[in-house]
Amino acid sequence: MDLISIDSLSDSDIATILDEGDRWFDYNRQPRRNADKLDGLTIVNAFFENSTRTLLSFEIAANRLGAQVVTMQVEMSSIKKGETLEDTARTLNAMRPDALIIRHGLSGAPSSIASIMDCPVINAGDGSGEHPTQALLDAATLRRRFGRIAGLKVAICGDLKHSRVAHSNIKLLTRLGAELRLAGPPELLPDDFQGDGSIDAAVDGADAVMMLRIQRERLDEEFGDAPGEYLDRYGLTAARIAKAAPDVVVMHPGPINRGVEIDGALADDPTRSLIILQVEMGVAVRMACLDLLTAERLSP
Ligand code: CP
Repeated sequence: MDLISIDSLSDSDIATILDEGDRWFDYNRQPRRNADKLDGLTIVNAFFENSTRTLLSFEIAANRLGAQVVTMQVEMSSIKKGETLEDTARTLNAMRPDALIIRHGLSGAPSSIASIMDCPVINAGDGSGEHPTQALLDAATLRRRFGRIAGLKVAICGDLKHSRVAHSNIKLLTRLGAELRLAGPPELLPDDFQGDGSIDAAVDGADAVMMLRIQRERLDEEFGDAPGEYLDRYGLTAARIAKAAPDVVVMHPGPINRGVEIDGALADDPTRSLIILQVEMGVAVRMACLDLLTAERLSP
């Protein structure tokens, strides 16, 4: 079983990951974490795009489950000598890993690699495609805070066109029964977007507001607005959040661009911001994903 998209998961898989993620979250707050569920397995990380949260949380998750973890140094690899991604995958496959976690700038790359690998492949973000484990950790964070997801009004605001986080969250939160409100600058909305994309309308009465950064690395030219101008027109400000539900929470997958898509004070507000909790939940949910996906390899 691979985890390429939210569509890779059955409803039962999603329930298992959210339940087990919640359990691992509590486990991870203990002083000693020495689970051995994946003892004897080798997990390979291959990140062809930069990452702090996803890469480190997968490394920590695999370590906490007792697996051996190897992270490919892409800058030092033979990709730099012209080896193709497919030949790299064949090479990694010959080393018999038990799971491959891949991030790549090209949408669809993890799916192509999965057709070569004999082990489970996890998409850790592919271009503007999907980032399924981010959506799973976002859902787990919301559920931990509210005790439910069904019926929550969740605003997702920003660069909806290029955000793989948004694409996975729209699929997952819809399946879990949330009411989504989508907003962003006209230039950064998907071509088939319906509605005016107003952030004021999206945040009005929302239970959760998830802000997205501009994916500048996927734009052909610099986005026009100056930082302060973008914040005023499309960002999350104190004036906007005042119109949300009284117990609204603020989310962001990170990295944050303070003063651009979000007022830094809101990101730091301990009563509302779940941003650091999202990072903590990331380790727990990735433990649940690794456990679920490698289960077949450990069954007799
Ligand atoms: N949210 C996320 O994918 O962050 P990183 O790019 O730091 O992994």
